Parts: sequence; structure tokens; C-alpha cells
Amino acid sequence: MKLGHLFSKVALLLLPLHTDALALSGKPHQFIVPEKRAPLQNIITWDEDSLFVHGKRIMFYGGEFHPFRLPVPSLWLDVFQKIKALGYNGVSFYSAWTLHEGKQGSFSAEGVFAWEPFFDAAKKAGVYLIARPGPYINAEVSGGGFPGFLQRVRSNLRTPDEDYQEASRNYIESITRIIAKAQITNGGPVILFQPENEYTLGADSIVFPDADYMNGLMQQFRDLGIVVPFINNVAFPNGVNAPGTDAPVDIYGHDAYPLGFDCANPSRWPDNAIPTNWRDLHMEQSPNTPYMLVEFQGGAFDPWGGNGFEKCAALLNHEFERVFYKNNFGVGCTIFNVYMPFGGSNWGNLGHPGGYSSYDYGAVITDEAKLMANFLQVSPAYLTAEPGRNTSGLYTDTNAITVTPLIGNKTNFYVTRQTRYNSLDSTSYKLRLQTNYDVGGFNVLYSSAEIFTWKKYGSRTVVVVYGGPNELHELAVSNTSGGTAVEGSGVKFSNRNGNTILNWETGSTRRVVRVGQDLYIVILDRNSVYSHWVVSTLPEGSYTHDSTASSDLIVKAGYLIRTAEISSGTIALTGDINATTEIEIIGGGHENINSFTFNGEKLQHTKDRIGFIKATVPFKAPEVKLPDLSSLSWKYTDSLPEIRNSYSDAAWTDADHAEPSNTYWNLTTPTVLWGGEYGYHTGSLITRGHFTANGDESSLLLNVSGGSAFGFSAWVNETYLGSWPGYDLYSIANITFTLPNLISGKKYVLTILSDHMGYFGNWFPGYNEMKTPRGVIGYELQGHDAADVKWKITGNLGGENFKDRVQGPLNEGGMWAERQGYHLPSPPMKDWEDSKGPTAGISKAGVGFFTTSFNLDMPKGYDIPLSFVFANSTSGTSGSAVLAYRCQLFVNGYQFGEYINNIGPQTSFPVPEGILNYHGTNFVAVSLWGLEAEGARVEGLKLVHGPIIQTGSWERREDAY
Ligand code: GAL
Repeated sequence: MKLGHLFSKVALLLLPLHTDALALSGKPHQFIVPEKRAPLQNIITWDEDSLFVHGKRIMFYGGEFHPFRLPVPSLWLDVFQKIKALGYNGVSFYSAWTLHEGKQGSFSAEGVFAWEPFFDAAKKAGVYLIARPGPYINAEVSGGGFPGFLQRVRSNLRTPDEDYQEASRNYIESITRIIAKAQITNGGPVILFQPENEYTLGADSIVFPDADYMNGLMQQFRDLGIVVPFINNVAFPNGVNAPGTDAPVDIYGHDAYPLGFDCANPSRWPDNAIPTNWRDLHMEQSPNTPYMLVEFQGGAFDPWGGNGFEKCAALLNHEFERVFYKNNFGVGCTIFNVYMPFGGSNWGNLGHPGGYSSYDYGAVITDEAKLMANFLQVSPAYLTAEPGRNTSGLYTDTNAITVTPLIGNKTNFYVTRQTRYNSLDSTSYKLRLQTNYDVGGFNVLYSSAEIFTWKKYGSRTVVVVYGGPNELHELAVSNTSGGTAVEGSGVKFSNRNGNTILNWETGSTRRVVRVGQDLYIVILDRNSVYSHWVVSTLPEGSYTHDSTASSDLIVKAGYLIRTAEISSGTIALTGDINATTEIEIIGGGHENINSFTFNGEKLQHTKDRIGFIKATVPFKAPEVKLPDLSSLSWKYTDSLPEIRNSYSDAAWTDADHAEPSNTYWNLTTPTVLWGGEYGYHTGSLITRGHFTANGDESSLLLNVSGGSAFGFSAWVNETYLGSWPGYDLYSIANITFTLPNLISGKKYVLTILSDHMGYFGNWFPGYNEMKTPRGVIGYELQGHDAADVKWKITGNLGGENFKDRVQGPLNEGGMWAERQGYHLPSPPMKDWEDSKGPTAGISKAGVGFFTTSFNLDMPKGYDIPLSFVFANSTSGTSGSAVLAYRCQLFVNGYQFGEYINNIGPQTSFPVPEGILNYHGTNFVAVSLWGLEAEGARVEGLKLVHGPIIQTGSWERREDAY
């Protein structure tokens, strides 16, 4: 077979060949006994090739989704349905300890933090879950998921040290009980469980890897009822906790981010970034478990001052997926999980300092991955094929192409790529293959075109194949007497040795050919396949591998198909459209169908002579009326009364600890001044120092820690001293302020407002970086004895006894308006000033708090994302036209963004329906912290809508009559 041209680095083919057994065949099901214990259940089992569910081999093709980053439980089904529509059958999830246990010993998982609705939605959508509750998760969450009170733990975090064990016990017990109930053995969706995360490398000062630690943790989970297999996720394949080690998990796995997080260079594929030794390592480290990638790069996080998620999406685009994902299938990966198909938001201060409010992750919910997921779901022979070595010049006539064969009992698969994997050359080559690929009784002898899916309906088989633009492709079917064009032209037919050979150049017009009586081959180009969906007609809650080749429909539809049902001659689809859309059932339902509905509305349909059913769904553009925020009436209150001479901080916490709770950070001040010591862990901190002047004070040096991009401002009494406006990379800053003339014998108060960007993660056990303090870590009052200053501190009201039970422990920071609860809907505003809103600004350094409310009456039956957009004003500090400021945006009480105009990059803050009331009143509050003497003004703030999607997403009422 000769392939004409392979264009660009993206040309890479998975070539199926040689099978007559696409049913679940291959090796007999082996039940691998876990190393150190009797198996606890027999529903989820595994052998060296794949997982089994109820004895049936499955390809796990999933992605990570954090419900806590979308705090609207009624939207979780929507996300699951979208993930499922890609052909995925699984989702992994973390639980963030810090959101459940703000105060040690008091765990709560209620409201938006409840897990049961998440499990119910997964089950409804037919999605399996991998539970990853940590306790350490990383995940770009504050503290890597660790709650602030761990700042005070003396010993090493993520070790068997007693006080870490003591501190984590309540969380482990509480979260495990919740997850245990959702295991498949109890009828739930959870099939695998990951203790810890990326337990990969540790500091020299501790035992690492520590078998006592991992075994102890696993025993805790087992004792609490976890019976599904344990998995792990090392950050690179170094064999930690693999079977055969002192603390083996059941199924060993790793993650990989081969292009890193370099969103600044969205087209840079460094030499040698493609992994080539994974199979060999696997055979050394864990030959008896399936190849598992627990997190494979599906996007990137982006730091403060970063490039924005559009660039991340460009870096990790369809070309990345085509080359890198297929490389993973070349090593035989059968548990494949993408991080992440849906990102969400770091609302309510839940993020780590290395990221801003959006956690979009450059994640695309509909893309190239869909093509591979669907192919693998209809190619079960892949699960038992044995990956070979990378070869060049063996299967091809050129060393410029590398081929990785996967040799099966009957079926072989071949992954091809450019040998210089990042080459942009066009390379012509010949492939030498011996093949047979069974599609419902027909042998596809070979195909250079990729297969999207195939299905069998009665005696008919429908196969959908595709290629890249202008590629030449060839496909042969054995034992057939020739083919005919049913639709379109340009496919050349020939016959050799009883085999029908099809040859064509890929174009954007669909071709359909019939080979023999009943094999229909639908020939597409790659762009067209993106609008095709495979959807099951089985009842809600069915899993992908419950489908047979005949219970799925192949639907061409455009934006999204969610569900399908066939009953009494009616095909009923639900889905979403963004334009008038022709919907065509190209596989399935071609017999006995007399009616067709979409989202419950009956459509006029036609059926062509081969039984493809077609109908048009009209898109009705709704009128979307959004308030003009600048013309609403706003209320204003000052939110920094602390600098007024009349202010009393008598009720604040005394910052009087002479020693910190642990020795992690070297104390340089007479008493500890950082927030975590006193239970303040989020949003912002205010520290006040009282002293009586002696008249010699000349300057004040402040050393403050806040996490990347943080800022702080300082006053002495009502006099503004200055600010650190923040820079993306600085998480600690030192500034010396000149003091005004202080009068001897008079009392003064220093007030320092500092931003808290979240705690660092704790990636390396033994380093304990999570304990890095936030707040004032050093000061010198020139001319005055430092020990003579008496300090007070506050953060959110109540600290670990936080008030904000609905939005959780992190949502509310230490600013005055937040401490009063004025970010929550309808505060008592009658004495506040009328205002034009944040665009009116504040005229001196400090914090202003602006509120307004408006009604929304969004069209029903549409999914219309809304965002608050700040006019971009990235310029910065004094002297330039725009003054440095930072805003928090609260919507109905939820903090849905921090905007830092001098750092960025985020200016647009999406707020999901459910947080915004789309059919009623909404309360919005904006805090504006001006970090320059002249104050600050928001240049513009708008509510804008995104794409208008007509949707069939609704929560079905199970009990409706
Ligand atoms: C992994 C980690 C995840 C997440 C990811 C980057 O190393 O396991 O939790 O932090 O990196 O987005």
C-alpha cells in the first residue's frame, strides 16, 4: 500500500489490521490476586492487559473533573453527559480536604460540597469514577488540598509522623465513608480508588518512599470499607509503590505532562519530548498490571501574569492529541485518563498561588480525543494486543517514519509517526502490513484511513472512516465482489484476489460506498467527523461497554448529542445546537422508524434510499437582554475603616505567640505575625501594630509573604505609607517606607493589608512548603524597639470557625466588608452612599466596596454562559496612566474572581448559571483595593454573554406523571 503524502507533524495513523474477533476475546480472564491480601470483591478485576467490570474487559477512557470547581450540583450531569458524548466512559475526581474541614475535627460535605449528587449524576450518565481523595492532591488547590490548620502541624506532612496522622484522621474517616458507599459493590459508580497523589520523590531528610506511610494509609482506607482496587499515580514512571515493592498498590500508574506548562510558546514541541521508553519501564516495574496513565496532559495551568488559557489550548491542541495520545496507545495504555476535559473555576480563593481565578486549563470538551476514544471503544482487540518496540524501516520503506506495532492474537495495530516526532516535513511512505479487521462479519483487509466507529444493524454494517485534508487513502475488504458509490463520487474501485479495494483522496464532501450487499462505508474528512456522535439507545445509566454494536446510533449533528431512545418507531434525541442544524442518523434506526424528535419536538424527517434519516432542527435565536452594569444604581461603602483613628481592633486576635507552632519558618519578629498561626488562611489578612512613638522613628521595613502576585499596603494611623503592587513571580516582598514625623508620646497604629493568594502545595514530602507563612514575616521600625509594638491580626471573621457555611471555609477574606458579611446578598445598605459603581473608583489608597443588584430573565431552553468582564487595563503602578488595583467579584455571595489589573491576565470572569440566578434577582458586590496614593478606578465592568446554545439539557423528573 502506498500512502500519498503525509502532511505535517500531525499525520499519524492508527492502522487496525488482522482480526476476526472484535468481540471481547483474547486471553482468558485472569484474576490477579493482590499482593498482600485476599481480593475483597470480584466486580472490578484486572490482568496485565486491562480492567474487567463484571468479567468484561473494558478500555477505561476518562478525564478528571472537579465538582468543587463548578459549585452548582445541577450542572454536574451536563458535564458528565458532555464527557460521555466524547466516547469516554470514565471520570476521575479529587476531593479537596481544605474545603471540607476548615476547622480540625469538623468535617462537612453539604450543599455545593456534597458528593452524593455528583455520584448520582455520574451514574445517570453512565460514567465510571476513579476516586482520588488524597489527603494530598496537589491539583492547583490552595495547599495542594491541605487545610490551613496543617500550617501548625509540627512534623512532616505526608509521613507517618504522629501529628500529621492525627490531623488527617478525621478527614480520611469522613470522606472515605462517603466514597465507600458509592463503590460499584454498593451499586455506585466508583470502580478504582487512589490513595495519595504523585507520591514520587521525597526530601533526603525523611524516609522515602515510606512503606509504613503508604501501607498505613491504605489500611485506613480498607478499614473504612474501600474494597475496589487501589491505584497510584507517580509523577513519572519511577516504580514507587508498584507491585513487588514494600507498599504495593493493586494497579500501578503514572501521569505525564510531556509539553509542560509552557503556554507562552504554543507551537513549541521540544526535541525528544515524546516518551519512548515507557513500555520497557512498565515491563520492569509492573508487568502484571494494565498500562495506566492516571493523568495525561489535556491542557495546562497558567500562572498570574501568564499568557491566558487560549494559548494553553493552542499548545495542547488536536495536533498534540493526535501525536502524543497515540504514542500512549503505542505502549498499550488501556486505562487512559486526561487531565482535564473540563477545568472550571478557582472560585472563593480555592486556588494555589500559582494560578488565577480561572481554571479553564485550556480544556476542550469536544475535540480530537473524541475520535480516538470512539475508535478504541469499538476495537476491543486493542486491549490484548502486545505493544512492540518502536521501529523504523521495518514496516516502512523509510527511516523517517517510526512504526510501533501492537500484535494481537488475531489483530494487530500499528501506530505511525514521524521519527523526528516534531518534524513538519511531508513524508511519503509505503507500509507493509498483513491485516484483517472485522466489522460485524466483514473483513477490512487494510485501511490507511482511520476508523471513527463501526456498528452492526441486522445484516448491515456501517463503518465511518476519515483522513486528513487531501490525503490519499486506501481500504480493502476481503471476499467481496466489488463496491458501488451510493453517495458522492471520486472513490476508485478495483478488485484483486477477490478483495474489493477502495482508493480516494480525502475531501470535504461525504462519500458513501456499499461493498457487497450490506457493508456501508462512510468516508469523511477529519473536520467533518468532529460533528458526528455515537450515542447509546440503552436506558439512562447504561455504560459504554453495555452497548452492543447495534444499540448505538451514529448521528451527524453538529454541536452536541446527549441521549437517544428508540421506542414504538420513534427516535428521540436530546442535544444542543448553536445554529439551524441538519441532523442525520447515519447508522441505526433505518428500519421501522416513522417519527423523529429532538429535545421533545417532533421533526419532519426524510429517509433516503439507504435508510439514512434526516431532519432539520431550527435554531431560534432568542432575545438576550442583559443589564448595563454602568447604568445600574450602586451602593458604596468604605471597606477599610481600620485606618481611621476612631477604629477599635479590641475584638481582634492578639498576635502574641512568642514561638510559632512549628519550626518550619524562622521567626524574626518578637511574636508570630503570620495568619496561619492564628487560624486565618484565606483571601486577605490585616495586621495592626500599636506603639507609642518616641519621636526617633524614621522608617518602617516590612517583609510580607502572600504567594505569587500578592500585594500589600501599609498605613500609620490615617497616613498612607505605600504599597507593594505585586508582580507575577514575587511571593514575598520587602519594602522600606519612610515614616512621617511621629510625635513622641503619641500612640500610633500600623495597619497592613495583605493579599493571601493561597498556600503553596506540598509536592515533596519532607520539604513541607505548604507551611510557608502568609502575612507579615518581618519588620523593623527604625528608631524604635521592635518588641515594643503590640500586634493584632484578623482574616475572615472567625478564622477556622468561619461564618460562611454555604460557600465554605475559603470564600470569605479579611476585608471589613467581608467580615461584616456584606458580600452576601442584601446587606443592610440604607446608610451607604449612592454610587455609579466601581467605575467611580476611590480617590485614595484603600478599599471601596460597591454593591448592586439586577434581574435576569434569560430565555428558557438555552445554555448561554455569562461573564463579568473588566475593561483591560494591564498597565500599572504610579506614574502610568492606570493605577494598580485589585478587585474581588462576588456574585450572590460567591467570590467568583480576583482581578489584578497590573498583573492579569484574566479580565473575563465566567459565572455559571446556578450561581447567577437566570430567572430572578442577582446581588453583585465588588471590592476595589487601590494600591496607590491616588486611589483607583475600574475602567469598565460589563456583563456579557457567550455563545447561545439551544439546549436539551434538563433534569428529568423521575417521578413526573
Ligand atoms: C499533576 C498533579 C495534579 C495537577 C497537575 C498539573 O502533577 O497530580 O494534581 O497538579 O499535575 O495540573
